[in-house]
Amino acid sequence: MTPYRIYLAAAMTALASTAAVAAPPEPGKNQLERGRHLIRIAGCNDCHTPGYAQKNGQVDEKLWLTGDSLGWAGPWGTTYATNLRLMMASMTERQWLHHARHMEPRPPMPWFNVRAMSDAELKAIYAYTRSLGPGGAPAPAYVPPGQKAQGPVVQFP
Ligand code: HEC
Repeated sequence: MTPYRIYLAAAMTALASTAAVAAPPEPGKNQLERGRHLIRIAGCNDCHTPGYAQKNGQVDEKLWLTGDSLGWAGPWGTTYATNLRLMMASMTERQWLHHARHMEPRPPMPWFNVRAMSDAELKAIYAYTRSLGPGGAPAPAYVPPGQKAQGPVVQFP
């Protein structure tokens, strides 16, 4: 081979491997299972899935992460666990990673636990949540301190 041909062959190999890396990553079965597992053990369903804690986790997976209308009332006002299915349906993976690393929602959302997750864990959670599809309705709107919330609330001192 002439030097030129060697150069060409090397360039083409480099191009081929770039193309392989740049292909949009399809969530594999393992990634989805990892996401599902993390959602379960990190307690996300406890608040973000209606009735999950009260029913000992026996809630149809179709309802997982659709948010809840149970209010959490305290000095911060009244918060409602967000519908994560709708939220993630409107975000790119990049936006989710950025959001997860910077968000500081009100109590009792343990945002510091989400921030402690690795990129791979956050990506798995994103892939799994999106695989469920954008189900359910948005959670009730946040109620500021001093205003009465509609419906049942868990009252913090
Ligand atoms: C103890 C209850 C509770 C648990 C457990 C919980 N959340 Fe939340 N989460 C909430 C509440 C309540 C809100 C709404 C907070 C607000 O309105 O400021 C929320 C909001 C969020 C938001 C939206 C934040 C924003 O910027 O609007 C995300 C994303 C989220 N939670 C992800 C998770 C994930 C992932 C897990 C599991 C690791 C989890 N949550 C576990 C109660 C909880």
